[in-house]
Amino acid sequence: MRVLVLTGAGVSAESGIPTFRGKNGYWRNLDPTKLATPEAFARDPQLVWDWYRERRERIRNAQPNAAHEAIARLAKQTEEFLLVTQNVDDLHARAGLPGEKMVQIHGDIFITRCSRCTFEHDHEHEPEHESVPNCPQCDALMRPGVVWFGEQLSRRELQRVESYLDGGACDAVIVAGTTATLGYIVDWTLSASHGGGELIEVNPEETPLSRFATRLVREPAAIALPRIVDGLIRSR
Ligand code: OAD
Repeated sequence: MRVLVLTGAGVSAESGIPTFRGKNGYWRNLDPTKLATPEAFARDPQLVWDWYRERRERIRNAQPNAAHEAIARLAKQTEEFLLVTQNVDDLHARAGLPGEKMVQIHGDIFITRCSRCTFEHDHEHEPEHESVPNCPQCDALMRPGVVWFGEQLSRRELQRVESYLDGGACDAVIVAGTTATLGYIVDWTLSASHGGGELIEVNPEETPLSRFATRLVREPAAIALPRIVDGLIRSR
C-alpha cells in the first residue's frame, strides 16, 4: 500500500498548540499569519522572537496526541509512506515517525539559523536568549529555521515530496487539520490521489479540498485518525 498523509496545525490542536487561523490563534492581539513573515521580522525582530520562544516552550511542554500516534502507526504498517506536514513542531517525530518518512515543509521551530549566511544550530545546543541572537559567524540577526509567508520552500524538501509523488499514485491520501490555503498543498493532494485512490479529509470544517474528498470526516483528528488508520491497516 502506498500512502501520503498531509497535516496542518489542526493535528496538533488537541496537544494544546494553537492553530494559525482558529479563534484562539491570536497572540497578544496579533494575527499569527502576519507575524510569520519576513516583513514582521524586519520591522520588529524582538517581537517575532518572543512569539517563537513562547511557541517553543509550549511545544516542549506538549505531548503528541492520538492523531500523531495513529499516523506513526500507519507509517510502520505500510510499504510506502510519506508524511508532508506544515507543522514546525516536533510532535510527529516524538510520536515515533522516523525522519526519512516525513517532510517538514515549513521547517523546524527548534532550528535557529542566520538570516544572512548559512550558519545554523538546533535548539538543543543553544542557550535560550531573551534578546535577538546574532550570528557567531557574520553577526547578522539569527532567525527561527522556519519558512515564512512569501519565502521559498527548501529545495531539498521540495524534491523529497516531488520524488515521492513521481513514484506513483497513492492508494490512500489523508489530509488532516489544514485549511489547505496554500496552493502546493492542494496540488500535492490532488496529484497523489489522481490515480483513483481514496482521498480522506479529516477536518471539522470545510476546505477547498473537501469537494474532491472520497471520504469527509468532520471530527477532531485525535478522534478520527485512530479509527481511519485501523480501517486502512485492516483493508490492506
Ligand atoms: P490553520 O490554522 O490555517 O488551519 C487549521 C485547520 O485545522 C483548520 O482547517 C481547522 O478547521 C482545523 N482543525 C482545528 N482543530 C482541529 C482538530 N482538532 N482536528 C482536525 N482539524 C482541526 O493551519 P494550517 O492549515 O496548518 O505557514 O496553516 C497552513 C500554514 O499557514 C501554516 O503552516 C503556516 C500558516 O500560516 C507558514 O507559516 C508558512
